[in-house]
Amino acid sequence: MKVLGIAGSMRRNRNTDALVGAILDVMTRIEPSFEADVVHTADLDVHPCRVVCHEAHCSVERFRCSISDDVGGVLDRMVEADALILAAPQYFRGPPAGFHTLIERLISMAYFHETAGHPAEGSPLLGKPCGLVGVCEYSDPQLILEYLRDVCALLSMNVVQLRTFPYLGVGAHGAVDQDEVFRPLDRTAELATGLIDAARAYRARGTA
Ligand SMILES: Cc1cc2nc3c(=O)[nH]c(=O)nc-3n(C[C@H](O)[C@H](O)[C@H](O)COP(=O)(O)O)c2cc1C
Repeated sequence: MKVLGIAGSMRRNRNTDALVGAILDVMTRIEPSFEADVVHTADLDVHPCRVVCHEAHCSVERFRCSISDDVGGVLDRMVEADALILAAPQYFRGPPAGFHTLIERLISMAYFHETAGHPAEGSPLLGKPCGLVGVCEYSDPQLILEYLRDVCALLSMNVVQLRTFPYLGVGAHGAVDQDEVFRPLDRTAELATGLIDAARAYRARGTA
């Protein structure tokens, strides 16, 4: 089985990466057969959706885009994975532009195809289990977790929630090893076990 983390920070080896790494560590410790991989959006060549080209491209064929960059490769890795982790820090009230540009492209392709009259059921991301990580410093990580939940809704993926606060996913406020409110490092273990169960069920179903 495969799990893919998408780490949306522009900085390597900081809070977002630490939480994605902690979740993947627990998953591979519990289930050594899991292949863990991480996409760092800071390393990607990703361009914004052009929108005006959709009638000749993604409206006709789902996830076919007129732009040649790294989005197609990331999508292929998402489709191959049995579980995903979407992780983003907050930059000026929203996610980093590099992360959101990737998300905008993925959602645009799915949206234009569906609104051109094709059924949503054909999506290769339908029902994909997805854990969420939202990181901030002085704001509320709930904002980023809600943004990530909407991303999953727009891509027809299933959010793997926590049974404990903040429920939607791992939230972090400030340095992850000092946050006594959101307790992000404790929550990574809970999310990891939830993702393992969801990935097994997803694989057993063979689809959504
Ligand atoms: C450009 C920039 C903008 C930021 N804007 C916010 C913000 O609006 N609210 C907030 O709580 N933290 C903000 N922060 C702090 C980051 O969310 C915080 O440092 C987080 O840990 C960054 O993730 P990283 O450690 O993985 O790089 C900002 C940081 C940067 C670099």
